Amino acid sequence: MINEIRSVMSTSNWTAALRMAEQQYPHPYLVDPFAELLCSEGDLAEIGGQPGAPLSSVVLRGRLGDEVVWRAVGRGVRQVVILGAGSDTRAYRLAMPEAASVTCFEVDLPGQVPARDVVLRAHGARPAMRQTVVEADLCAPGWPDALRAAGRDPDRATVWLLEGLLYYLPPERCDALLDTLSGLSAPGSVIALDVARTSFFEAPESRDYLDFLTARRSPYLTGIADAHGWLAGFGWKADAYQCDQLDLCELIPPPPARLLTCRHIWFATGIR
Ligand SMILES: C[S@@+](CC[C@H](N)C(=O)[O-])C[C@H]1O[C@@H](n2cnc3c(N)ncnc32)[C@H](O)[C@@H]1O
Repeated sequence: MINEIRSVMSTSNWTAALRMAEQQYPHPYLVDPFAELLCSEGDLAEIGGQPGAPLSSVVLRGRLGDEVVWRAVGRGVRQVVILGAGSDTRAYRLAMPEAASVTCFEVDLPGQVPARDVVLRAHGARPAMRQTVVEADLCAPGWPDALRAAGRDPDRATVWLLEGLLYYLPPERCDALLDTLSGLSAPGSVIALDVARTSFFEAPESRDYLDFLTARRSPYLTGIADAHGWLAGFGWKADAYQCDQLDLCELIPPPPARLLTCRHIWFATGIR
């Protein structure tokens, strides 16, 4: 069990590595100057060498999440909750004018975010937002209380980000998580998430990657057939896109063709 938890936690090294790799392009679609501090070349080689891995989803969802936060903060939202935060660096890098008045609650399994912060701070990084770490298991019932105790105000709108998380939770836990956070969302709250499509599990090109994940004890567990319908079922006015539909998403600039390689992933947003 401990090994499985560690395996899932270590997937955040891969996401940092993929954000690091994006910085090598002349015009990165996602700018993350801290990513290189949170991974090794070995992490990049490990994940980059996996055929069928939805690598570009990390950069696509990262840019989408950034824009969702910018816009929500621009209309007055002051609470950001990142579920499964891992190597996310938004609390440090989204230095918008209002950042000092925004609280960024970063929820992950015990030890994960503090370990990241030790590295970032050792390199002189300081949060731009008010950062609050919440160490909790999102599959256990206590996380909403922990979030409340950390200072999130349930009566004020919240930005919820669930990036690279739902893949690793069983379907009933994904439903329970969405049900719970939706019930905690005041009017004006927004959500952005990515999740595997059910087609990911059926596509021959995914087989090697799914086997790799299972062998290292961090299997993908959930696929969603209709992300729009799923989110709408929890009361969100939702939009959902496959990567080659993201040019229709008015929140982000059209992604470059080199990133349109993860066709079995949903990118979804919602507002209450
Ligand atoms: C693939 S990483 C994604 C990290 C980050 N959101 C990103 O996009 O870079 C998945 C993260 O979800 C966290 N996670 C997985 N299961 C969790 C659970 N039951 N409770 C809390 N966090 C969890 C892991 O520890 C890990 O940091």
